[in-house]
Amino acid sequence: MERWTGRVAVVTGASSGIGAATARALAENGLRVVGVARRVEIVQNLSEQLKRENCKGELFAIQGDVKEEEEVKKVIAWTREKLGGVDILINNAGLAPMVSLLEFDLVAAKKIFDTNVHGLCLFTREAVKDMRSRGVDDGHIVHISSIAGHYLAEFKGTGPYSGSKHSVRVLTEALRRELRDAKTKIRVSSISPGLVDTEIFKASGFPEDMVESIHQNPITLKSKDIADAVIYVVSAPAHVQIHDIIIRPTGEAF
Ligand SMILES: NC(=O)c1ccc[n+]([C@@H]2O[C@H](COP(=O)([O-])OP(=O)(O)OC[C@H]3O[C@@H](n4cnc5c(N)ncnc54)[C@H](OP(=O)(O)O)[C@@H]3O)[C@@H](O)[C@H]2O)c1
Repeated sequence: MERWTGRVAVVTGASSGIGAATARALAENGLRVVGVARRVEIVQNLSEQLKRENCKGELFAIQGDVKEEEEVKKVIAWTREKLGGVDILINNAGLAPMVSLLEFDLVAAKKIFDTNVHGLCLFTREAVKDMRSRGVDDGHIVHISSIAGHYLAEFKGTGPYSGSKHSVRVLTEALRRELRDAKTKIRVSSISPGLVDTEIFKASGFPEDMVESIHQNPITLKSKDIADAVIYVVSAPAHVQIHDIIIRPTGEAF
């Protein structure tokens, strides 16, 4: 990770779960991290906590909604102006409301795709544009996808979420090809976790008993497990592009 010391990472969805753990891990490895979320005060609290711990790097909290194109542009412009520009982008922000296809809720489905897919594409476009304009050729884009991007689980209402993560899987390869054709060495990687014990289920409106049973389930990953994988992916040597990693808790039932 030495080559990343002092360089700049943007992490979307840094107020909770995998994004917060990843922002922490990158800062602990000496990066200057821009943590984006709507609940910016939680990212600010983490930033202050890291300072108290004498963290090697630094976390900057910035408010932003990945669904809003102008807000995405502002985050990357702020990063350029204040910190010199983005070198690593972690596209992590996401949500997973249950949406039945027979009682299709267009508003909820649009929210899934606007957040998990279009937000990821907007941040990617702005970050790669910024990297290339500064001649950065070793940048890295990491998508936090899901095991749900590789198959359809037997859970009612997860079709649209799974569809969004299948999109992320395809978009990872599409981006790899575009970067290759543009003759840049900027890399793209995807990480596909199984069940991780985070706030996503509550935030996505799952019934309370289901949220509780997920928190009680001993067969889950912790956010740090995924943050560790992010560190592994971005620390690979320049000639190695880790394309997609599936990480499951040992003994996962589905
Ligand atoms: N937990 C799992 O089992 C699991 C499994 C596979 C993949 N994943 C993926 O991992 C990623 C992170 O999820 P998590 O489990 O860590 O969930 P989480 O604890 O609920 O965190 C989600 C983060 O995304 C942010 N976010 C949501 N919508 C946003 C928006 N419109 N603009 C900006 N930020 C937004 C939230 O921040 P604010 O609400 O403050 O904006 C929060 O920081 C997601 O892409 C998810 O699909 C999770």
